[in-house]
Amino acid sequence: MTTKMKAALITGANKGIGFGLAKHLGLSGWQIIIGARNQHRAEKAIDELTSLGIKVLGWVSIELSDQAGLAQAAKEISEKYPELTLLVNNAGIPGDMSVDGLHTQMKDIHQTIDVNFIGTFYFTQQMIPLLTKNNGRIVNITVPSEISPYWHPLAYVASKAAQNAMMGVLAMEFQQQGTPLEIFSVHPGPTTTDLNGNMSLPGFHDIDTVGAKLSELINDGQNHQGEFIELYPIVKED
Ligand SMILES: NC(=O)c1ccc[n+]([C@@H]2O[C@H](COP(=O)([O-])OP(=O)(O)OC[C@H]3O[C@@H](n4cnc5c(N)ncnc54)[C@H](OP(=O)(O)O)[C@@H]3O)[C@@H](O)[C@H]2O)c1
Repeated sequence: MTTKMKAALITGANKGIGFGLAKHLGLSGWQIIIGARNQHRAEKAIDELTSLGIKVLGWVSIELSDQAGLAQAAKEISEKYPELTLLVNNAGIPGDMSVDGLHTQMKDIHQTIDVNFIGTFYFTQQMIPLLTKNNGRIVNITVPSEISPYWHPLAYVASKAAQNAMMGVLAMEFQQQGTPLEIFSVHPGPTTTDLNGNMSLPGFHDIDTVGAKLSELINDGQNHQGEFIELYPIVKED
């Protein structure tokens, strides 16, 4: 990884795991750019981070279901933050986790895949020229592609399996083509956030614990090209 300026863009950084990571990466010396959908929520996050002494370079409007907006965001980032070296694809939606696979609605499949896979892939594609120029890295926050017996909401796991395939394919191509870019995926494990109705059961962790561990991983100085790294496993919820 480059030792130039350490500037990171985290999508969905206004709350949840993205915010926890922004906090701990920021405390470890990274300069942070917040990706958010809404100015008010972005500014609230910026206030909280700066009050901790973290250097926040600014925020960028990122709505993963709006491809024109994503292209515009990538252009804005290249112009305003040409030193960016790290993109964390964290933003995501759960889809309907209350329904079994057989009864999943097509609308839910479309929406969840549109945000978690298509939007994430399109934004990544738009960011690759800048990140390549800076010998950068892309980290995806995801869940395993293997189906867990404990928990398997179809729209969500399908969208994340597609995102995991994106990571594997791009990692292979970067290696084969000598592209100076690293991409890997991390499963944070069950984390108490809005995504799961702030569930807090044995085996769940809070955003500070997960943010600190993710930050440690990003700062470990190792090359993780193509890896799927599990911070904590999926657990049986009962
Ligand atoms: N929580 C877990 O147990 C867990 C486990 C494994 C993986 N993950 C993954 O971790 C990531 C973060 O999830 P979280 O648990 O922290 O959830 P969260 O608290 O609900 O945060 C999700 C973030 O994504 C943003 N977002 C949602 N839809 C978006 C869209 N269409 N375009 C752009 N941004 C959007 C949200 O912004 P708004 O505030 O504007 O809605 C929010 O900032 C997700 O990719 C999730 O799949 C979570």
